[in-house]
Amino acid sequence: MSDVKWGIALLDPNCFPKKIKILDTTLRDGEQTPGVSLTPENKLRIAKRLDELGVDIIEAGFAAVSQGELEAVKLIAEAGLKAEICSCSRVTIGDIDAVSKAEADSIHLVIPTSDLHIEWKLKKTRDQMLQVTQKCVKHAKDVGLVVELSAEDATRSDKDYLKKVFRTGIDAGADRVVACDTVGVLTPEKAYEFYGDLVQSLSVPVSVHCHNDFGMAVANSVSALRAGCSEVHCTINGLGERAGNASLEEIVVALKSLYNIDVGLKTELLYSTSQLVSRLSGIMVQPNKAIVGENAFTHESGIHTQGLLENPSTYESIDPSMVGVTRRISPGKHSGTHAIKASVEAMGIHPTDEQLREIWQRVKVVGDKGKTVSDADLLAIAEAVTGLEKPKAIQLQEVTVVSGNTVTPTASVRLKVNENDITEAAIGVGPVDAVINAVKKAVLATEPVTLEQYHVKSITGGTDAMVEVVVRMRKDTKTATATGVREDIVMASMDAVLAGMNVLTALNGNGTTKKTEKQ
Ligand code: KIV
Ligand code: ZN
Repeated sequence: MSDVKWGIALLDPNCFPKKIKILDTTLRDGEQTPGVSLTPENKLRIAKRLDELGVDIIEAGFAAVSQGELEAVKLIAEAGLKAEICSCSRVTIGDIDAVSKAEADSIHLVIPTSDLHIEWKLKKTRDQMLQVTQKCVKHAKDVGLVVELSAEDATRSDKDYLKKVFRTGIDAGADRVVACDTVGVLTPEKAYEFYGDLVQSLSVPVSVHCHNDFGMAVANSVSALRAGCSEVHCTINGLGERAGNASLEEIVVALKSLYNIDVGLKTELLYSTSQLVSRLSGIMVQPNKAIVGENAFTHESGIHTQGLLENPSTYESIDPSMVGVTRRISPGKHSGTHAIKASVEAMGIHPTDEQLREIWQRVKVVGDKGKTVSDADLLAIAEAVTGLEKPKAIQLQEVTVVSGNTVTPTASVRLKVNENDITEAAIGVGPVDAVINAVKKAVLATEPVTLEQYHVKSITGGTDAMVEVVVRMRKDTKTATATGVREDIVMASMDAVLAGMNVLTALNGNGTTKKTEKQ
């Protein structure tokens, strides 16, 4: 143990290679997530963000898969990014030429090495695969690519044969190799032994590529790095086939927080990168996902928040600002009076002890009905109990929405913002988007807020169902949750967004925790 930070005894960073490279494969293995298909433009947006984050290598796609995929890799390769741009490829001359045509810097050249794959999938022999390896690595080098030779299903391959494939590739010019735990069968102990042996036996850098079938991908990857691997393949949000790949954000933060290893990424961009990937891929991040899940830095229970308000490290092992998140204290039936007091005081309401107990009781009643208590609900309860109901800073006067198959969805809104009448119109991809864009335009000058989260739940069935819209809004470092419940989704969205904005206005620069400094 070498150091103590944020209450954690750190492991010795000297057990790891001096430089660990991050290969992000969100745009290739991550895109293989069922239901995910990214346009070249959206791939470029993600690649730019990954570059800003500081990853060393971006696996931009699989150039031979389709024309669009080749275009995407080319678009990214031509974007002038700092990262090395890589494309995946099978061991065929056609695939390799597609990578070269896309002008990628490097090729992730994949050769299946387990008998299962060689015999059942490819109907070939081990010897034939060795010849193919030799021929394809040589060709990839001849066309000027950096070659990362990749063994698919490496962890279920005969180890001597696996090394033979790698050595054949290295003799033909491969610059580095990667052994894939394609179906996630390693454990941290096995990973240490397996990758350690490869690192000792081979003359080029070895990378690790783990899948999460048993939920061990991150632990296995870290173990492999500790055994000497100098590059790790991972994806944002752990996207990938089946249970996904090792998650980039978990690996990077674990290395930093538990081992004191800085891989050189701007970790404060992790949350926003996760959100971008979630939005463009359409795959939601599970709320309790480590590092970037909505609940990763949200606290409700009274005991926890009481400790947190005194010193955040009592119930947090990671400083939220490290990953670009602000800590949230969420009101609910488990909340204690300390948390409720801190939250309502931040909204500018200072209840007496008796009023505070009443607010606390009412929050519990709502929670006992199985309802989430949003920040807007808490504000409404606190105002009702203290009799301090103030006119809302932002009020809806009028809204009109036009939508249909021949018109661009358009909305106009008239709002009272701090006593001023403001009318704005906007278009959107649908009526809800149009109305929210119009509201944002109307209030942006005075309230620079952003909509961070938007979810819709149908409470009852049928086309006349009640829908509940849940939003989370942000202004600078402050966030506010709010809900809107109506039969009309546009109006429910409008209610939720305005309620969220009004909470942010009430928060008015107050903090929700007493101490937020790092230890
Ligand atoms: O997991 C895997 O085996 C892969 C290969 C295609 C490289 O992603
Ligand atoms: Zn994979």
